[in-house]
Amino acid sequence: MKRVAIFVFAAGLALGCAEARAQKLSAADKKYSELANYDESKVPQYTLPDPLVSRDGTRVTDARTWERKRRPEVFAMFETYMFGKAPGRPKAMHFEVKHIDPNALDGRATRKDVEIYFTAGESDPSIKLQVYTPNGVTGPVPMFLGISFMHNCTVTDDPGVAVPEPVAGGRALKRGMMKEAWQLDMILENGYGLATYCYTDIDPDFDDDFQNGIHPLYYTGSQQRPDPDQWGSIAAWAWGMSRAMDYLEKDKDVDSKHVAVIGHSRLGKTAVWAGASDPRFAMVLSGNSGCCGVAISRRMYGETIEAMNVRFPHWFCGNYKQFNNREMLAPFDQHELVALIAPRPIYIASAETDNWSDQKGEFLGGKGAEPVYALYGLKGIGTDTMPGIDEPYADGHIAYHIRKGPHAVLRFDWEQFIKFADLHFRGKK
Ligand code: GCU
Repeated sequence: MKRVAIFVFAAGLALGCAEARAQKLSAADKKYSELANYDESKVPQYTLPDPLVSRDGTRVTDARTWERKRRPEVFAMFETYMFGKAPGRPKAMHFEVKHIDPNALDGRATRKDVEIYFTAGESDPSIKLQVYTPNGVTGPVPMFLGISFMHNCTVTDDPGVAVPEPVAGGRALKRGMMKEAWQLDMILENGYGLATYCYTDIDPDFDDDFQNGIHPLYYTGSQQRPDPDQWGSIAAWAWGMSRAMDYLEKDKDVDSKHVAVIGHSRLGKTAVWAGASDPRFAMVLSGNSGCCGVAISRRMYGETIEAMNVRFPHWFCGNYKQFNNREMLAPFDQHELVALIAPRPIYIASAETDNWSDQKGEFLGGKGAEPVYALYGLKGIGTDTMPGIDEPYADGHIAYHIRKGPHAVLRFDWEQFIKFADLHFRGKK
């Protein structure tokens, strides 16, 4: 009896906390959506930090100096002040291919269900990676590695993928409910593979002061939460993409030299940071990554750093909070995050009605990285004018489009991503 009472009381408390959290969040949502500027004439005057000027004031004029001297400086700024430092590859990490279906999707593909463990024990967080490769091809295939908002069963309607029971209070999952966002059929038809995992495998997406998910596994001594320069949730999700890459490098059906990372929205920010921090990713596809992704923060158009840090305090490291409403004082801006991908190709996808993500800011994030690509003799976006709707600029190493419709990844986006991969991975014009 006593136990039941304690349980009911504890459950009530938990619910109370969740409710209080939801209320706090919706008040902040309202505040920041009311405060958001969508008037181009109110964008403040700003000067972007020059990616090619080193801390000692000297100018970088060649790719070697960029790579040896300036790139590490830029990387360290993003790592220390924004995303936070992540640990390396865990020593005890191991993989288990739990199941292989060589005849998935009516024989069109092979599906592998892989579990990636980070510790010797198997009860700690792990990645459940779902890997599809097309059948009837010769040799290993180039891949898209996507970080997903939902369970792997939502990516495809493959009846072989188990649909889990919803967690208490959670949304019921339907097989294939996110199909449109993943376009697995199109990917396979074009001779590419698709690997996905759900981001919450690494760290649940709410602010609990880093008590659940992957972070506590790395606390040392009496540490209770990451230090101000240590990884937030976005860096943790991106770290997971690198761990998935550790597996892909071992899979003989995968051409691991040609893996493109993709994510949308908060997971677009994640994919861009994964590409910046792990040079094994040969291409980056940013879906509506917006503020703190590829959009220039100094524009303060749509979402701002403060709006982000208040509503999602767990996404970035503690140090990043000092730039709330002080974007002009940050020693970097998001064009330099794009520059960290150079000379690898990046595709920046914006959407027409997604003003919150600041489409022009995303375009300018790509533009601002051009001088770094130029050090390699590579063309970036290649023009100063924003394109028309559904008219991609995609013949350089920095591609950009603004697609008709909402904040999402849709069929049109994938058509462009595949063409972009064909161009850079297969030399197809
Ligand atoms: C919020 C947030 C964005 C983010 C988006 C998403 O809108 O403000 O920065 O990109 O969520 O991930 O869906």
